[in-house]
Amino acid sequence: MENSYNKLIEGNRLFSLSKKNDDPEYFKKLSLGQKPDYLWIGCSDSRVPTNEVTGTESGEIFVHRNIANLVVHTDLNMLSVLEYAVSVLEVKHVIVCGHYGCGGVRAAMGNDMFSYVDNWLRNIKDVYQKYETELQAIGDMDKRADRLTELNVIEQVRNLAKTDIVQKAWKKRELHLHGWVYGINNGLITDLNVIHNEQEDIPAIYRYNVNKK
Ligand code: CO
Repeated sequence: MENSYNKLIEGNRLFSLSKKNDDPEYFKKLSLGQKPDYLWIGCSDSRVPTNEVTGTESGEIFVHRNIANLVVHTDLNMLSVLEYAVSVLEVKHVIVCGHYGCGGVRAAMGNDMFSYVDNWLRNIKDVYQKYETELQAIGDMDKRADRLTELNVIEQVRNLAKTDIVQKAWKKRELHLHGWVYGINNGLITDLNVIHNEQEDIPAIYRYNVNKK
């Protein structure tokens, strides 16, 4: 439909009405500022809407999404979001949430050439290569993709821990990094228990001497 976008505007009116109906001060309170406890780094996939799948409200989660929830150390966009969330908003938790059935992960597993996005998915190929023995041993391609999805999340959490932003925060306060996977087929999040809370959680070569500036 040419004007199918109108349903978004209509949906927005209903959203605004229902929130004001529940709490006449809802938007007034939000307009005062934000103090979210969480930064969410997720996939752009339309089936993983952050607030909806976590049952949270506006103002609760600072969000960054890209194809296949990657944390790339040269990505100015991600680094800017991370810096603002960690240093200014002082979030307590950073969550990388991947999802089973991720098209980006699946594409990275193959050898087909798509477009510019291949350069982005290269980061997942690096994860694949790192765990090649484990992954090649999984014959079922769906299961292999599921495992690569999990390994990709684990590696992205490690990438977060390797940033100066996270390490500087660790010198001052508690900051917890988490790796989760969301199941599109059941709506449930699995915690991969890849928790990073301090510099000692990453290999020595990545640890900055934060005090000796
Ligand atoms: Co995805």
